[in-house]
Amino acid sequence: MTEDLLLSIRDLHTYFFRGKAVGRAVEGVSFDVGSSESIGLVGESGCGKSVTALSILRLVSRPGKTVSGEIKFERGGKMDDLLLLPEQEMTKVRGGEISMIFQEPFTALNPVFRVETQVGEAARVHLGLEGKGLQMLVMKTLSDAGVKDAERVADSYPHELSGGLRQRVMIAMALISGPKLLIADEPTTALDVTVQAQILDLLADIQLKRKLSVIMVSHDLGIINRICDRVNIMYSGRIVESSPKNALFSNPLHPYTAGLLMSIPSLSKIERRLPAISGNVPDLFDPPAGCRFHPRCNKAMDICKKTEPGETVVDGRMVKCWLYK
Ligand SMILES: Nc1ncnc2c1ncn2[C@@H]1O[C@H](COP(=O)(O)OP(=O)(O)OP(=O)(O)O)[C@@H](O)[C@H]1O
Ligand code: SF4
Ligand SMILES: [Mg+2]
Repeated sequence: MTEDLLLSIRDLHTYFFRGKAVGRAVEGVSFDVGSSESIGLVGESGCGKSVTALSILRLVSRPGKTVSGEIKFERGGKMDDLLLLPEQEMTKVRGGEISMIFQEPFTALNPVFRVETQVGEAARVHLGLEGKGLQMLVMKTLSDAGVKDAERVADSYPHELSGGLRQRVMIAMALISGPKLLIADEPTTALDVTVQAQILDLLADIQLKRKLSVIMVSHDLGIINRICDRVNIMYSGRIVESSPKNALFSNPLHPYTAGLLMSIPSLSKIERRLPAISGNVPDLFDPPAGCRFHPRCNKAMDICKKTEPGETVVDGRMVKCWLYK
């Protein structure tokens, strides 16, 4: 629990409905984000990271639905439950108080509008800026996002820019309204390694300067290591471990976390074949009984196959695994 709480998610459930079948994409997810804190949400493809992120902004669309839970967000000194806000209030939260950057900047940018118009949009809507004031803020925010020739870029269409520049434009779009929370969903996955490193450094820098809270969504613990203070490990719709970053990297509690850490490529390990976690993530429409990780876990015991482990607190860290009961 953090002192200045900005976001507090409790027991969030978001399901997908396919006829009579139910895919429990997010099931009982709880975590906090403090003011100026950077949180990682990590797990393999399909574990529910993006659905969790979209649930916060109430952007999950049919056949998906957030069916229960609480998403409390600090607004004007009190914690409002975003799931209960009228839609009109929610439009102020989206892109105003909470911004999101997506995995693929090209699809998130509109090809028919110049960068200046798109970056300025949130400031027009949420801050009521127009004319010269708006233009100056667009240039400053592009420059804060590491765009060197802001005027040329502002005058360009997205297709005229490189992938790295498009991602910087997306970051400027997300920052211009002065949000308190930035949700970055795999913000560097589509970029090559060098540009990826530059964008991560930029995000770390912006977070510090603007005292932003960040939820960084990624399948890559290497990326999380550069940005985050605390890490939530997700597996099959649930958070299975939540730990401060340093503790998680030096002593992973959950066998799944340990497997993910072993899969991080590093120069020192390059000669060895990286030991990936064997097997596949479970089908959310038909998950295994007990601990959902048991078919892939080399420490699985009898109880793991039958009964799901609850939360255990170990040295202030949360883990869901029978090894700690
Ligand atoms: N539009 C949809 N219709 C049906 N099921 C969906 C839909 N979107 C997501 N899901 C279900 O929710 C699960 C979680 O999806 P989510 O996009 O959150 O995964 P993720 O962790 O973000 O994965 P990735 O790393 O690939 O982005 C999916 O495995 C899928 O079963
Ligand atoms: S509960 Fe059992 S199967 Fe699940 S991670 Fe722990 S040891 Fe492995
Ligand atoms: Mg995703």
